[in-house]
Amino acid sequence: MMFLLAVLCVFYIWSPATLSGGLGATPNTIPRKTVPINRNGRRLFREEGVWNYTTMLLREDLNMLILGAREAIFALDLDDITVKKTMVNWSVTDTEQRDCSNKGKDATNDCKNYIRILHKRNDDRMYVCGTKAFAPTCDYMSYADGSLTLEGKQEDGKGKCPFDPFQRHTSEMVDGDLYSATSINFRGSEPVMMRSSEDSLRTEFSSGWLNEPNFIHMAHIREGESNPEGDDDKLYLFFSETAVEYDSYTKMDVSRVARVCKGDMGGQRTLQRKWTSFLKARLDCPVPNNNLPLLIQDVFHFCPSNWTTCVFYAVFTPQLDSSPYSAVCAYKIEDIKSVFSKGKFKAPVPVETSFVKWVMYSGDVPDPRPGACIDNHAREMGFTKSLDLPDKTLQFIKDKPLMDQAVKALGEKPLLVKTGAAFTRIVVATATALSGTSHQVMFIGTKSGSVLKAVNYGGEMVIMEEIQLFEPSEPVKILRLSDTKLYVGSDVGVAQLSINECGRYHTCLDCVLARDPYCGWDLEAEQCSTINSTHRTSTVIQSLSSVKSNKCPQIDDSKSISVSFFHGSTVQLWCEPNSNLAQVEWQLNGQPLNLSDTIKILSDSLMIINASADADGRYTCSCVEWNYKTQHVGYDLTILSESGSTALLRNVKGKENTLVAMVVLLSLTLALLVMWNLYKGHFPLPFCHRRVKVTENRCDRSLYENQPPEQKIASSAVNLNSNNNNANNQRYSSCQITLRYIDDESEI
Ligand SMILES: *[C@@H]1O[C@H](CO)[C@@H](O)[C@H](O)[C@H]1NC(C)=O
Ligand SMILES: *[C@@H]1O[C@H](CO)[C@@H](O)[C@H](O)[C@H]1NC(C)=O
Ligand SMILES: *[C@@H]1O[C@H](CO)[C@@H](O)[C@H](O)[C@H]1NC(C)=O
Ligand SMILES: *[C@@H]1O[C@H](CO)[C@@H](O)[C@H](O)[C@H]1NC(C)=O
Ligand SMILES: *[C@@H]1O[C@H](CO)[C@@H](O)[C@H](O)[C@H]1NC(C)=O
Ligand SMILES: *[C@@H]1O[C@H](CO)[C@@H](O)[C@H](O)[C@H]1NC(C)=O
Repeated sequence: MMFLLAVLCVFYIWSPATLSGGLGATPNTIPRKTVPINRNGRRLFREEGVWNYTTMLLREDLNMLILGAREAIFALDLDDITVKKTMVNWSVTDTEQRDCSNKGKDATNDCKNYIRILHKRNDDRMYVCGTKAFAPTCDYMSYADGSLTLEGKQEDGKGKCPFDPFQRHTSEMVDGDLYSATSINFRGSEPVMMRSSEDSLRTEFSSGWLNEPNFIHMAHIREGESNPEGDDDKLYLFFSETAVEYDSYTKMDVSRVARVCKGDMGGQRTLQRKWTSFLKARLDCPVPNNNLPLLIQDVFHFCPSNWTTCVFYAVFTPQLDSSPYSAVCAYKIEDIKSVFSKGKFKAPVPVETSFVKWVMYSGDVPDPRPGACIDNHAREMGFTKSLDLPDKTLQFIKDKPLMDQAVKALGEKPLLVKTGAAFTRIVVATATALSGTSHQVMFIGTKSGSVLKAVNYGGEMVIMEEIQLFEPSEPVKILRLSDTKLYVGSDVGVAQLSINECGRYHTCLDCVLARDPYCGWDLEAEQCSTINSTHRTSTVIQSLSSVKSNKCPQIDDSKSISVSFFHGSTVQLWCEPNSNLAQVEWQLNGQPLNLSDTIKILSDSLMIINASADADGRYTCSCVEWNYKTQHVGYDLTILSESGSTALLRNVKGKENTLVAMVVLLSLTLALLVMWNLYKGHFPLPFCHRRVKVTENRCDRSLYENQPPEQKIASSAVNLNSNNNNANNQRYSSCQITLRYIDDESEI
């Protein structure tokens, strides 16, 4: 009876076993560690009944994260976002909602106020805009005496904030003026990039300027202060749009960068109240074997010192699912600038009556150069503001804002190409390594709700971790970085992570082979520590560009665990590598293990099915990474002399299938009986309970060792986990070791 119960329990435990898949991608695009949701150390903020946490403003001066969601704005503690300081509601009125639904929009989803713009102004107030039931509206908001207050100004948000909450847009606040790129009409069909100020400016309504764009990111680059040619500050705009320059029967999109000059005031007659400095170029992010260009999804601009050092990091995904790859490409500001200031233009040429082809323009280019800001050269010619510019220059740029040449990616290839969940967002932090050199650490959000942490070491991309954040999976919709913290927004909540979580690396080798520039192994403290200035002189090991970890103490590979088994049973020996890059090698009595139908290696264990007497012996599992043995675990397997239950088992086997079938029938009857009994509460399932429990808990080793053989098997599930602080476990490297005894019958 007990035996059959055991069989039933084991069946229950056994089912989720997974076979390891093949290594599809190249090694460096596999995240070294996969951090599951229960070990990610995140803090999570979500408010009951509130969704779409996708707008953020960091107020480091107030030590607050201002968070825009649907119909609400929150002020959270920057150090711990689970602490809500205050909030303010900004909902639509019933009338607004009715007007919106009368226009054919979905009342419960579209006709709400989605907060889309949050900027800090110089006067300490904030500027906030929401979609307001398809009637975009802006307001001023201040924080005082512990509460957020909206002033109720109800400014028109057309052209600043989208009507449609699903439409992408971008904006930037510079010296009190809002620069925005969005659709200006209800239908979402009229795109603009505009500046809202006393001298408001915007783009021409022409497909040559913007052609069904998807706006991604805007960046203000302060260049004017230190440009030797007296050039102006720029606003860079990143977007994708329908291409005009290719001969293609189907619609094809391309990624673009455009830029305008901050001092632009428009033209006098031509381009009146329009940008005179709007230039755009294609962004190239070449991924091999890809027919259609990838499309830009997010940009982070990183300027280590003055503007000349700025680099734009961008994530790209395929259009129309034409490829399984996402990519990161970086662009130097100098490269973008030189395409705009020295490159050739494209010009539209009518080919047939209604068809226009964009080709390289090789005619004369007027002086001052079309699209250039007012710089020393223009001033020498007597043009001190854009209003002075000659019609010839303005007419040229009005017709030909597109550059012929594309902007090439840094190194002319992506920094990272990866299959799997599509990339959605990116931020880049800088880390100072033990040697004093700086490294750019990328945090990339994905569609499946995880964040990748990656560094490029001289062309070699290393993905240190993939941290799973939202379950069920939710696309990452915004990433923000502050000091040492990362804030990750999604439709269902916001997560806060530490960017230098060195405590996740448990051993010296794990810490060093991670190649995490933030972390080093402290030989004295015997822990993986965050590198700080005091470390530079002490005994800390770090090895980033070439992997050397020979200073780490050797792992102890002399210990082993004794396991007994019955004839015909299935034994599972656990050995879970703590790195996805480790090669796992199993040996039997010092010889490489020969695989067969009855011996299978899974991603985290070895299975011996229908074990016979010759399964006896010493099994060892070694995890090897970069030629270093990082983990080791040994098992001594011995067969037990036949006891009651095995004898029964063997008898059943002897009489072949009919009896096996009878056992199945018996088991089923018993199962029903047991379920009925359980339902009636007649008895608990002690045996089953213990097994399941032992597998889940970190079992005490002594319990296992001191039991008589029968008992030993019953509870032969040992899980020594590196996360466990139990001193006992230190003896066995950080391998996760679990033993499981599984009866053959469970597979019938
Ligand atoms: C807002 O969040 C809800 C819930 O996840 C989602 O269904 C909806 O699509 C989101 N709306 C927008 C505009 O992102
Ligand atoms: C916001 O609205 C919700 C319900 O609509 C209400 O429970 C909450 O108290 C309001 N908060 C503030 C600060 O007004
Ligand atoms: C900007 O910084 C770089 C290196 O830090 C330096 O070489 C260059 O002269 C600086 N340029 C300006 C305009 O300050
Ligand atoms: C550097 O790290 C050590 C622990 O590893 C800590 O005791 C010390 O305070 C840190 N120093 C600074 C300046 O943060
Ligand atoms: C595996 O097979 C090889 C050759 O057949 C043999 O030399 C080796 O001893 C076997 N290994 C084990 C563990 O039995
Ligand atoms: C188990 O192994 C024995 C020989 O050791 C063999 O006779 C029997 O058929 C095997 N059973 C299964 C289910 O493979």
